[in-house]
Amino acid sequence: MVNIGIIGMGRIGKVHLQSITYHVKNACVKAVADPFMNEETKEFVRGMDVGKIYGDYKEILADPEIDAVLVCSSTDTHAAVSIEAIQAGKHVFCEKPVDHALDKIQKVADALAAHPQCKFQVGFNRRFDHNFAAVRRAYDQGKIGEAHVLKITSRDPEPPNPAYIKVSGGMFLDMTIHDFDMACFLTDSDVEEVYVQSAVLVDPAIGEQGDVDTAIITMKMANGALAVIDNSRRAVYGYDQRAELFGSKGMAATSNDTLSSVVISDHQGVTGEKPLFFFLERYMESFSEEMRQFVDACQSGGEVPVGIHAGMQAVKIGLAAKKSVEEHRPVKISELD
Ligand SMILES: NC(=O)c1ccc[n+]([C@@H]2O[C@H](COP(=O)([O-])OP(=O)(O)OC[C@H]3O[C@@H](n4cnc5c(N)ncnc54)[C@H](O)[C@@H]3O)[C@@H](O)[C@H]2O)c1
Repeated sequence: MVNIGIIGMGRIGKVHLQSITYHVKNACVKAVADPFMNEETKEFVRGMDVGKIYGDYKEILADPEIDAVLVCSSTDTHAAVSIEAIQAGKHVFCEKPVDHALDKIQKVADALAAHPQCKFQVGFNRRFDHNFAAVRRAYDQGKIGEAHVLKITSRDPEPPNPAYIKVSGGMFLDMTIHDFDMACFLTDSDVEEVYVQSAVLVDPAIGEQGDVDTAIITMKMANGALAVIDNSRRAVYGYDQRAELFGSKGMAATSNDTLSSVVISDHQGVTGEKPLFFFLERYMESFSEEMRQFVDACQSGGEVPVGIHAGMQAVKIGLAAKKSVEEHRPVKISELD
């Protein structure tokens, strides 16, 4: 059994607590820490049979019963908390992004190098989505051949509160970061160069915060494949999450998940269900699967499926995308080194 402490009991901390409690048989959440928990959250945590409820995460790090921690607090705390946890000898699952600054992510990598027994996984949960995992499997099985073109469609159902834009690092480091990781995952390659065309077409308040809400991103992958991501902060028909990998031997394409596959035909036309509403609906199973694989790696001593390299790559691509917007030109990832 792997004993877990969760640091940060907001939206995603609660998702992981539920996933582990109900869907991971070889792990148990023993403690949570969050300085700003209200009574309702504490009640929820107690309802999951968690015995230790702390304000300060350091109590989790000092607890010898805890084998692994999940860092689910706000992004600006991830790197520092992860380093402390590694130094305390805990395995770490860190939510994305590890940080917005490459030097801070490098410090996490350095701490890991000094504590090689510690596992460190980054929360790129979409790799564990059944659709995207099947595309990668087809590629690994040679069914696509050499990867030539990857297309990712990633559109949110509604924009975030404009106040969230600044703290989250903006669209590329908060939302598209999942798509950057997906591009690396589906082509099994790093990115070499990024070029972005972007606009504010959904909400002028997002533009006032200095961010964009619509983008077409083209990328040259290190293995020679070309990739394109199209992003919007608002698709009126729901969360639109699709990918298509085309290669020398064929193509693998996904469609959106829906509540049911029913298609209703009547005198007005033929209609089906909208895509599942947002990430909590669409990706719930992927959150459980990433936890199962993290816990398995902690238990077996094997490799984690998404390590610090992937965490660093995605942020580099995000920073390169921002630079491309600012300077209106293609940006090589090596420029950030
Ligand atoms: N993988 C995904 O799809 C996904 C989805 C949502 C959020 N996230 C990431 O998870 C992180 C949290 O996002 P959220 O939506 O849950 O935010 P949230 O604001 O709902 O929760 C964050 C929680 O962290 C707590 N916190 C802040 N400082 C802390 C500290 N020092 N110690 C302990 N707790 C602390 C806050 O009180 C809050 O309860 C972000 O980095 C976000 O990018 C990832």
